[in-house]
Amino acid sequence: MLDDPLNEESGNTLLTRRYFLEAIGGGAIGIAAAGSAMLTAQFLSPNVLREPSLRFKAGPTENFPPDSVTLQKEQKVFIVRPKEGHFYAMSAVCTHLGCITNWKTEEGIVACPCHGSRFDSEGIVLDGPAPRSLQRFAMTLDEQGELVVDKGVIVGEEVFLRV
Ligand code: FES
Repeated sequence: MLDDPLNEESGNTLLTRRYFLEAIGGGAIGIAAAGSAMLTAQFLSPNVLREPSLRFKAGPTENFPPDSVTLQKEQKVFIVRPKEGHFYAMSAVCTHLGCITNWKTEEGIVACPCHGSRFDSEGIVLDGPAPRSLQRFAMTLDEQGELVVDKGVIVGEEVFLRV
């Protein structure tokens, strides 16, 4: 019959000590192997920065009445619908140093709070120091009738969305 290696009363204290040291050693090796495997997996996984999508849904067309300029604050984009009824998406980021501009309904202009640049509703500079017009982004209509803006695609001032 074999002695129980954990039984101190068996009189075999050397075997007990060996068993204990082997158990500790095996555990340490297991922990080291698991840590090494985790570090290897982390090293092999792609080291990319996840950024929010540049495409976003601005909402249904009926949310934007004709002759309106609506700031989508989170996206820093104006949804503009002139009297004629078409749409375009215009950046709210000032072309001077990047402050977020505001639409001033009473004056009918886009104004920058930082250094006083002013733009018309088409984003054209009225007063500097902004060096150029506000950017326009591509806009489409999805199957649900919602406006979709793609800030990754810059378009010219002649591009509109007709609904
Ligand atoms: S950041 Fe707009 S005028 Fe300077």
